[in-house]
Amino acid sequence: MSVAKSYHREVAPVLAYCAEHTVVQEPLQEQLQKETLSNAPMSMMLGAPEVLSFGQNFIRSFGGKRVLDIGTYTGASALAWALAVPDDGEVYTFDIDHTNYKKYGVPVISKCEKTFKKIHALEGSALEALDKLIADGQSGTFDFAFIDADKANYSNYYDRSVTLLRKGGVIFVDNSLWSGSVCDPAKRAESESTQAIHDANDKIYQDDRTYSALLNLGDGTHVAFKK
Ligand SMILES: C[S@@+](CC[C@H](N)C(=O)[O-])C[C@H]1O[C@@H](n2cnc3c(N)ncnc32)[C@H](O)[C@@H]1O
Repeated sequence: MSVAKSYHREVAPVLAYCAEHTVVQEPLQEQLQKETLSNAPMSMMLGAPEVLSFGQNFIRSFGGKRVLDIGTYTGASALAWALAVPDDGEVYTFDIDHTNYKKYGVPVISKCEKTFKKIHALEGSALEALDKLIADGQSGTFDFAFIDADKANYSNYYDRSVTLLRKGGVIFVDNSLWSGSVCDPAKRAESESTQAIHDANDKIYQDDRTYSALLNLGDGTHVAFKK
């Protein structure tokens, strides 16, 4: 099944139209998107620009300073959050392997020292890193979380993010519609990732710790607000 990314206008004209009236990118973001789509392996993993713009809008509107970015890849989401937080803001970005970030992201993002220094890149299991932040007493200190790593751990990442966010903090869960396959029981039965995303969607909808809405934005964005 093809992924209906907004930059593929012929596949998804309505999504493309919405993106054209949503996405605002700074030159560094344009450079990183171009570099990723032209040269990085598995470039379909690049975060949808309309989701990143919408997340930046949240961060800016509620004065978010501390961000969890779960799944770095080449750094497009980490860069978006780093541009949205103030000068003393911090973005913790987690990936099992930072090869793509070092090769494609760092050369672009480091052109702006002020932005680059806000990003703390933590390599290794994201779940272990989040558990370490909790063990270190950081619960309730983050403003925003973006979940975009291995789908099997989506429910675990969501639980850790709820713990680490302050009251009023916001979580974005990316790929929550997984090209629409979450709606089809047969596709859920075929794919562990599809089932895991569906389970996370159910969990978030039923969770008393948050208010939430599942949006048809990008490849699906489940937005949760910590009570
Ligand atoms: C979809 S990409 C992230 C895209 C990025 N957020 C962006 O906006 O371009 C998912 C990333 O999750 C990472 N990943 C997979 N399993 C992981 C794990 N167990 N812990 C941390 N990162 C993991 C992959 O290496 C990959 O780079």
